[in-house]
Amino acid sequence: MTLPPRLTRPAALDLVAQLQRELALQPPHVILAAAHAQFGPTAAISFSGTEDVALLGLAQDIGLPFRVFSLDTGRMHPETHALLQSCRERFAPDLEVFSPEANQVEALVRAKGLFSFRTEGHHECCGIRKVAPLRRALAAAPAWITGQRRDQSPDTRSEVPFVQIDESFSDSSGVLLKFNPLARWSSAQVWQYIRAAQLPFNALHAQGYLSIGCAPCTRPVLPGEHERAGRWWWEEATKKECGLHAVANAS
Ligand code: ADX
Ligand code: SF4
Repeated sequence: MTLPPRLTRPAALDLVAQLQRELALQPPHVILAAAHAQFGPTAAISFSGTEDVALLGLAQDIGLPFRVFSLDTGRMHPETHALLQSCRERFAPDLEVFSPEANQVEALVRAKGLFSFRTEGHHECCGIRKVAPLRRALAAAPAWITGQRRDQSPDTRSEVPFVQIDESFSDSSGVLLKFNPLARWSSAQVWQYIRAAQLPFNALHAQGYLSIGCAPCTRPVLPGEHERAGRWWWEEATKKECGLHAVANAS
């Protein structure tokens, strides 16, 4: 797929302001359509779980094709791979799976073992297994689309806008735009849509898991616990971002 050039910063700032004016109260499928209107199928849906299945379903509802990619960290549950495969078959036969660089993983494991994140924090491992592959997935891409929601994390995501400049992954080639069409949807709205449209979901949800990442860094949550409580549970709530999404999410 040939990628259109990234926007310059002034053009990106103008576009974000215009979309924020025009789409402020619009539902997720209209935001998806706006991403497609600007960037065509090269606007890339970043796929890992329930919210992303909803994005694929909404894209199918409006009949618009998008690039779809996923980051396979090498530490995912088999149930997550099963969901990835069923969504590949149902929605995205060209789904691109990015793996970490073998030499980086080998060096980390040789130096620190398989569970360094438990004692040293998760950023080094996430940097190798998630952020570096994301950088490759987004190289020169003009825009990506995520399933982030504001109510996923009061500590890190309460300000997520539906469109923003991605400062973490923009570079000298231009600006990367990030669309978060589900920003204003609650978890309940996502599940309502998934069930009504009879879309697939991760079998781990039936075992008490809510937010699902890598196997050693995800646990089921107890009744009343927030969904993010099951991610990196040995760390403070304000540190529960792995580098895919900057904590200060205002555009
Ligand atoms: S994470 O940063 O803490 O792992 P989370 O699991 O909440 O993120 O997912 C938020 C959004 O980030 C997903 O809807 C998806 O768009 C993107 N994302 C997270 N993990 C992956 C992954 N492994 N591959 C591709 N996209 C991902
Ligand atoms: Fe490593 Fe855990 Fe981050 Fe997965 S979530 S990349 S296993 S630290």
